[in-house]
Amino acid sequence: MANIISRPDWYITEREVTSEFAYRNRRKFLKQMGFAGGALATLSGGLSAAGKVRSLYPAKRAAAFNPGWPLTDETVATTYNNFYEFTTQKTMVHRLVDDFEISPWKVKVHGLCAKPTTFDFDDLCRKIGLEERVYRFRCVEAWAMTVPWTGFPMHKLLKLVEPKAEAKFVKFVTAMIPEQMPGIARQPRYPWPYTEGLTMAEAMHDLAFVATGIFGKPMPKQNGAPIRTVIPWKYGYKSIKSIVEIEFTKSQPETLWETLSPEEYPFESNVEPKVPHPRWSQATHRIVDTGERERTLLYNGYEKQVGHLYKK
Ligand code: MTE
Repeated sequence: MANIISRPDWYITEREVTSEFAYRNRRKFLKQMGFAGGALATLSGGLSAAGKVRSLYPAKRAAAFNPGWPLTDETVATTYNNFYEFTTQKTMVHRLVDDFEISPWKVKVHGLCAKPTTFDFDDLCRKIGLEERVYRFRCVEAWAMTVPWTGFPMHKLLKLVEPKAEAKFVKFVTAMIPEQMPGIARQPRYPWPYTEGLTMAEAMHDLAFVATGIFGKPMPKQNGAPIRTVIPWKYGYKSIKSIVEIEFTKSQPETLWETLSPEEYPFESNVEPKVPHPRWSQATHRIVDTGERERTLLYNGYEKQVGHLYKK
C-alpha cells in the first residue's frame, strides 16, 4: 500500500529482516538507546502497582504451559515494546508511560450477552484467580520472545457475562487517553482507539489468554497494564493492550490495523510461515534477546491445539 500514513513502523524490507548488518546495527542501537536504562524502568516506573492484587503474584505456573523453553530476558521483554499510543519507537515506550493512570481501572463487557457487566480490574482478578503460562509470542515484524504471562483464560471472563448464541465475534478496545498517551496525537490519521477482534471460537479457545502480569509481577505499563490479551498463535498485534471494553458482536469488528492496511494486517492474522507479508518473508524470525534466527512454525507452534479451528 503506497499510503505512507497507513504504514506502521514495522516497515522493513526483506533485506532488512535477514541482513546481518542491519541486525548488528539494531543491537548496537538498542544498547545505546534503551536497554541501559531498562532495568530501572522494570523495577520502578514501568511496573504497575495495582495495589490490592499485588498479593496474587507470583501466581502458580500451570504445568501444561511450562514446556521448559528458554525465557526471554526480562529487561529486553519490558523495554522493547510496541505500544503506538505512546510512541512508535520500541525502546522508548517504557520511558513515556509514567503519566498513564491504571488504577482504578474498569473493563466494560457488553453487546450480545445476557449479563453485561462493568468489572473493576482488582475485583475481577480476585474473582477469577490468576495462573502463569509460558507462551511463545511472534510479532508480525519477524521477531519473537518467550515469556511467562500471569492472568486467566479468556473464556473464564467471557462466560461470566453469558454470551448469546448470536454472538459470532468478540471486539476489544484499548483505553484512549490522549493527555496520557502522547503517541495518539502524533498519528492523527490512525483510527484510534486501538481495536482488535477474534471469532467467538478463537476467544473461547483455552489458549486465548487475558494477561495481567509478566515475569511473576503485575503488568508493566509498557506491556499493556493493567489488562491485555495474549493470543499466542496469531501475530502480536492481535494481542491488544490496556483493554477498557469487550463487546460481543454479530458481524466481524473493524480493527485498527485492518482498517489501515487490509492486505498486510487482515483480521485473522494467524502465524503462517508460508504466507509472506507483502513486504517481507515470514519464514523465520529473530529471537529478540539473543538475536538468533529461528524457523517460524505454523500457528507459532500451536498447530496441534488450534489447527482444527482453521480446517477448510
Ligand atoms: N496494543 C495497543 N493498544 N497498542 C499497540 O500499539 N501493539 C501490538 C500489541 N498490542 C499494540 C498493542 C503489537 S504490534 C505487538 S507486537 C505487541 O502488542 C507487543 O507487545 P509487547 O510490547 O508486550 O511485546
